[in-house]
Amino acid sequence: MRRLDAAFESGIHPAISFGKPAVWKGGTYVSASLSLVARLSPSQPIRRLLEDPEKVLVPYVREGMTVLEPGPGMGFFTLPLARRVGASGRVVAVDIQPRMIAGLKRRVARAGLLSRVDARVVAADSMGLTDLAGAVDFTLAFALVHELPTVEPFFAEVAQASKPGAGLLFVEPSGHVKPPLFEEELQAAAKAGFELRDRPSIRRSHAALLKKR
Ligand SMILES: C[S@@+](CC[C@H](N)C(=O)[O-])C[C@H]1O[C@@H](n2cnc3c(N)ncnc32)[C@H](O)[C@@H]1O
Repeated sequence: MRRLDAAFESGIHPAISFGKPAVWKGGTYVSASLSLVARLSPSQPIRRLLEDPEKVLVPYVREGMTVLEPGPGMGFFTLPLARRVGASGRVVAVDIQPRMIAGLKRRVARAGLLSRVDARVVAADSMGLTDLAGAVDFTLAFALVHELPTVEPFFAEVAQASKPGAGLLFVEPSGHVKPPLFEEELQAAAKAGFELRDRPSIRRSHAALLKKR
């Protein structure tokens, strides 16, 4: 496990770092030894250059906020979020994969930020956020929504957890999500009570800043 964390923190893509020399097969790296197949994705330092988490978050996240992060994965944004909300804020990070949450908790603990991050394993069909009703100031949904089987219940749950006027930064990878699908997803967000306020520019992404009515 520490190897996975170390690979993440050092910036080597974990799936590639575990294999014997990876071979190139039509847009995919195939690791011969562990049969791990990783889509070619940038290492963390390269991703940081393309999508600097600080730059992405600065306009929206302030000290003292309660932030919801559905689908944190390995936590590319979670630690920067926890630093920005400060000691008086908190980040609730929910993922369906127990190993993502376990790894995230280890990294959060190592960074001394455990008291600010509430990392939870949730079911695929509900984030179970009843304890957060009307408490969330800001939600970051980055590269998540296209993975959901249905999007309406997701936006409804985020809306229920959000304060009136709360922000939702909704970002999808442009490589996976074509513009018409992103627009459909935005319509689902609108049905749940989120108004479109801005379309920030984030490389390799479609992005929208939404506000809860
Ligand atoms: C593509 S990763 C994005 C990770 C992170 N947001 C980032 O940008 O680095 C999507 C994450 O969403 C999680 N996920 C998928 N469906 C989910 C659901 N219904 N509820 C919560 N998390 C989910 C996956 O397990 C995965 O960790």
